[in-house]
Amino acid sequence: MFSEIVSPFSLLFLVGVAHGLIETCEDLQAAFNLTQTQDVIDEIHPFQDIECETFTNMTMTSNTLTLNSSENLDNFFGSSSLTNVRLVVTNGAELIWETHVNFIGDEEVELMVDGGAVFVGEGSTVHFLNDLEMEDIRIINERDEDSDFASFVRSGGCVWTAGSFIVDGEATFTRCDITGAGESPPGPGGAIYVGATGSVSFNQGVAISETFITDDFGGQGGGIYNLGEVTIAGDSRFEDISASSGVAIYNGEGAEFYFTNDASAFFRDLNNRDSVGSGLTNLGYFEFSGPALFVEADAPVIVATETSQTILSENSAFWTFDEEFGEALSVDEAADFTIPASVVFVGFE
Ligand SMILES: *[C@@H]1O[C@H](CO)[C@@H](O)[C@H](O)[C@H]1NC(C)=O
Ligand SMILES: *[C@@H]1O[C@H](CO)[C@@H](O)[C@H](O)[C@H]1NC(C)=O
Ligand SMILES: *[C@@H]1O[C@H](CO)[C@@H](O)[C@H](O)[C@H]1NC(C)=O
Repeated sequence: MFSEIVSPFSLLFLVGVAHGLIETCEDLQAAFNLTQTQDVIDEIHPFQDIECETFTNMTMTSNTLTLNSSENLDNFFGSSSLTNVRLVVTNGAELIWETHVNFIGDEEVELMVDGGAVFVGEGSTVHFLNDLEMEDIRIINERDEDSDFASFVRSGGCVWTAGSFIVDGEATFTRCDITGAGESPPGPGGAIYVGATGSVSFNQGVAISETFITDDFGGQGGGIYNLGEVTIAGDSRFEDISASSGVAIYNGEGAEFYFTNDASAFFRDLNNRDSVGSGLTNLGYFEFSGPALFVEADAPVIVATETSQTILSENSAFWTFDEEFGEALSVDEAADFTIPASVVFVGFE
């Protein structure tokens, strides 16, 4: 039994703000709909399961929606699970979500959208104040009925952002996949696609695993494809990922990618089908903070192009047990590449 305690006086002071408890798919949709005319604050129980019968876009194009926990989160474990729900926040709107959230997809279903779970437009913000998980979310290119060739390439298996996407707790992405269709290659950003105007902050690190961009040709950045700015303050893992190049991370020209606060980065089992940069393909600015450890990542592990600046941190290591190893690093002679003397290579040429 849970009872909601809302002071009747608080309503008097918050004119234009609605209060309610989100328990169903319809409740959540109603809260999103109400943002058309006003800021909305609602509450959700820390382990409320919200399941829509069919795949549903929850769309907001103005104002702010705040979903607070109905209980003190210090006393609750678990998360609010969202099944068949996709959040679309555009046109400057802002979403703030306090409970732990777990997006659950259907491994049999492939969605024809950019960002299978969350889409953030330019100027908009989606901010999760606690842990975020996404699992089993798959997107596929949209096929033009009349042609095998013309199809709309979809990108960002789990998240697509041209605005700000912020997670204050731990962020975990498992099985966020992209598939091509017809003659068209799959799009970039297996778990996360960050556009040129976009930014992503993972304030307690990120874990991305079992994520695949399938089909030949195309499909860069199996973990994170970044054209904007990414900041990761917390130990992170990129494991069991496959894509064409920049398998864990693809950092585009003009893009910025920072690990901060001594955050370590662990990379394992990365498969680059085009033999270009399994751990990182860098065309922009990229900075590690704590040690980076690469284990069983296909060679070359890091590719740095002429336009790039890359800073590797102390005590980083590259390990391979592969008999057909190549060189760990492929650095253009015009690239700016900082490698401390403490970095070790085991098994590479
Ligand atoms: C929310 O808006 C959509 C689109 O206008 C509508 O189809 C849906 O019925 C509304 N849902 C609720 C619960 O208000
Ligand atoms: C959800 O939104 C996308 C565009 O963001 C659209 O292509 C798709 O058809 C929508 N799906 C549903 C079920 O409304
Ligand atoms: C909702 O949460 C925000 C952020 O924690 C807080 O500032 C605000 O006071 C809360 N509102 C209500 C009505 O509990």
